[in-house]
Amino acid sequence: MLDKVNKLIIDVQAFNTKNKEEIEVFRIKYLGNKGILKELFNAFKGVDSTLKKDLGQALNNLRNTAVNKVNELKDDLTKNTTKKFVYGDLTRPSEAISLGSRHPIAIVKNRIVEIFSRIGFNISEGPEIEDDWHNFTALNLPKHHPARDMQDTFFIETDPAILLRTHTSSVQVRYMKNNKPPIRTISPGRVFRNEDISARAHCIFHQVEGLYIDTDVSFADLKQTLSYFTKEMFGKSKIRLRPSYFPFTEPSAEVDIYWGLETEIDYKITKGTGWLEIMGCGMVDPNVLKNTNIDPKKYSGFAFGMGIERIAMLLYQIPDIRMFYENDIRFLEQFKSVL
Ligand code: DAH
Repeated sequence: MLDKVNKLIIDVQAFNTKNKEEIEVFRIKYLGNKGILKELFNAFKGVDSTLKKDLGQALNNLRNTAVNKVNELKDDLTKNTTKKFVYGDLTRPSEAISLGSRHPIAIVKNRIVEIFSRIGFNISEGPEIEDDWHNFTALNLPKHHPARDMQDTFFIETDPAILLRTHTSSVQVRYMKNNKPPIRTISPGRVFRNEDISARAHCIFHQVEGLYIDTDVSFADLKQTLSYFTKEMFGKSKIRLRPSYFPFTEPSAEVDIYWGLETEIDYKITKGTGWLEIMGCGMVDPNVLKNTNIDPKKYSGFAFGMGIERIAMLLYQIPDIRMFYENDIRFLEQFKSVL
């Protein structure tokens, strides 16, 4: 019997588990009411008295070892869980943090603003709800001017006219009224036109307006500024200016950049010409200067305006303008890596 008890002591010492249930089974097996120890102590009663001393010691030893074992394993179990809770596993690779992404319109707007701010332009903004004077009249578009029809307007009230601005040129009016030359400002913003929605056109879109007023500003300054911009924005500085008409500039021009004809896409977007129209521009009409209390004899300036969606569509090869406003996460997520 002594041998059996000594062997059990070794078994108990060797036992190990991290499982709560298994510890309980172990406890019952050795220390339970019908457990091994109970049985052995019962048998102990009938043992010859000469053997009792050694056997008694061995049995006590077995019981203490089993009790200690159970306590030790239970301790380990609670220690491990609290440890995990506090520190986690410090050697585990961290989980990837899911980054959000900027909207492509914001990305392009920020880039345009940043490029012009490098050459001293500041940012100005104006209201989206405008009156007739700031959106039209002050920009040399008096009532019944035919060019008003070019911009299908959402009217909120008709007399006097309150409307959703059709272009950010209204901000140049506000800026000229409130600031003295020299003026160098860039005005990004949302504009509205009552147009049918299609892959190419939307009733809400974004523009950036640029305005530069000082003494002796010439058309050459305009051209130089624009070629700097196209170089920085698209990596292409070859531009051409085609005569055009805007009521608020004289002379006026449409700006094309030479995009090239290297790929099939280049052919498609430039309709086989290699040239792409990206904005309108011109020398600020003296009437506009007068309307905003700037002396046209002393000052001259240039202005330009471009659509942000159009530029974003070119840069990222987005085929449909409606994608900007659908908030489809699969579309937006593609801009994660772009700042
Ligand atoms: N406001 C024009 C438009 O919405 C764009 C534009 C053209 C702005 C020429 C300008 C400019 O400042 O000089 O189509």
